[in-house]
Amino acid sequence: MKLGIAGLGTVGVGVVKIIEKHGELLANRCGQTLEITAVSGRDKTKDRGVNLDGMTWYDNAVDMAADPNVEMVLELIGGSEGVAKDLCEAALSQGKPVVTANKALLAVHGTELARLAEDNNTSLAYEAAVAGGIPIVKAIREGLAGNVFSRVYGILNGTCNYILTEMEETGGDFGDILADAQKLGYAEADPSFDVDGVDAAHKLAILTSLAYGTPVDFDSVYIEGIREVSALDIAFAKEFGYRIKLLGVARHTDKGIEQRVHPCMVRCETPIASVSGVFNAVVAEGDFVDSTVYEGRGAGEGPTASAVLADVIDIAAGRISPTFGVPADKLVDLPKVAVEEHVGCYYVRLTVLDKPGVIADVSAVFRDEDVSIESLLQRGRSPGQEVSVVLTTHEVQEAALLKALKRIENFDHTVAAPRMIRIATL
Ligand SMILES: NC(=O)c1ccc[n+]([C@@H]2O[C@H](COP(=O)([O-])OP(=O)(O)OC[C@H]3O[C@@H](n4cnc5c(N)ncnc54)[C@H](OP(=O)(O)O)[C@@H]3O)[C@@H](O)[C@H]2O)c1
Repeated sequence: MKLGIAGLGTVGVGVVKIIEKHGELLANRCGQTLEITAVSGRDKTKDRGVNLDGMTWYDNAVDMAADPNVEMVLELIGGSEGVAKDLCEAALSQGKPVVTANKALLAVHGTELARLAEDNNTSLAYEAAVAGGIPIVKAIREGLAGNVFSRVYGILNGTCNYILTEMEETGGDFGDILADAQKLGYAEADPSFDVDGVDAAHKLAILTSLAYGTPVDFDSVYIEGIREVSALDIAFAKEFGYRIKLLGVARHTDKGIEQRVHPCMVRCETPIASVSGVFNAVVAEGDFVDSTVYEGRGAGEGPTASAVLADVIDIAAGRISPTFGVPADKLVDLPKVAVEEHVGCYYVRLTVLDKPGVIADVSAVFRDEDVSIESLLQRGRSPGQEVSVVLTTHEVQEAALLKALKRIENFDHTVAAPRMIRIATL
């Protein structure tokens, strides 16, 4: 099987190394030799630490698709538009299978690319695009194919999980820990895709499509990142027996599909709470299998390349599945549930002046809006000064809670906007 690799960065070089190291093993596993015949990058002169002798170099990656000496294209460039998309379209249109690690591309154009692959009797594979080295695409699409999923959720971004873990362990603030993560190479110079939840949302949109047989719909994902998570919230979470994680949650309810990415309080004793540092984890809950948990490295050269090779081997061995588990024309648009309709428990932190009657006023608003308080805690006592009042609620619709918080925000004795974090029932 002659491979063309577009993109020779972290992932592309990792793929070259695995093929160099495990050539014979891979050949046995897929029934034919894997040979890299063509490569593409921006800079031909860059030393990439791997031997590219004998491979045709393409300055324009898209041209690789038409090379008769390329039978499968590995798109490892990135980005939802531009050359990555053009290359995938060109290869699929010519009936050549594509393997990609590009979650942005799949989240935005997944359905149309899946259709293009099918129309040309070829395949589009993307194990590396979701949770890096964890074979979650295969698990949901094949291993758990007998189930209807009630919920699929997980820690889908290693950078955020690293930052939250460090904040918890050191008591440090978001900004300082982010700066350290950047120095250590765990966060990009521009961290916004990661810390603002966009990267996790890309992956969640793909998982939702796979789990529920619905067209990929990134625009319907509710996204909230971790910038507002404070050391104070992490400390209070601990007191209540929780840890804060950035979760992506896809859920099928009576009303339709919920897709949300936001910080969540998870009980310390749940499997997801113990996933720390740059690790990712996904939990898939099927009606017959019950809860299944997958954990591993969600990024990096080795783990991501490992997932790319899994797809390459499947295709070379003739094991081909529809992109999102069912043929593209069987993907069914399901109603999307807005986050305001979410029903759950919440953690709320109010910053108020320590004055008589404040708690009574807060309680009255919650009573009026039908929000039932589970526990309430006021730390410290400093009359006339600002204090944190922290509470957790019983199950309530988010819209009702938001209404109550808006009213509380307008109180004279409220010093800062109330902070709310959803509590996950796992
Ligand atoms: N890194 C990870 O841990 C990880 C994990 C999961 C998924 N992914 C996904 O994998 C893909 C690649 O990520 P990466 O981390 O390997 O990125 P990277 O290290 O930045 O590498 C990107 C590569 O693409 C090449 N490139 C950029 N523009 C190009 C163009 N117009 N034509 C041809 N080549 C071009 C670059 O060439 P030069 O080297 O010449 O500049 C570079 O080799 C992305 O979709 C990413 O989201 C990455």
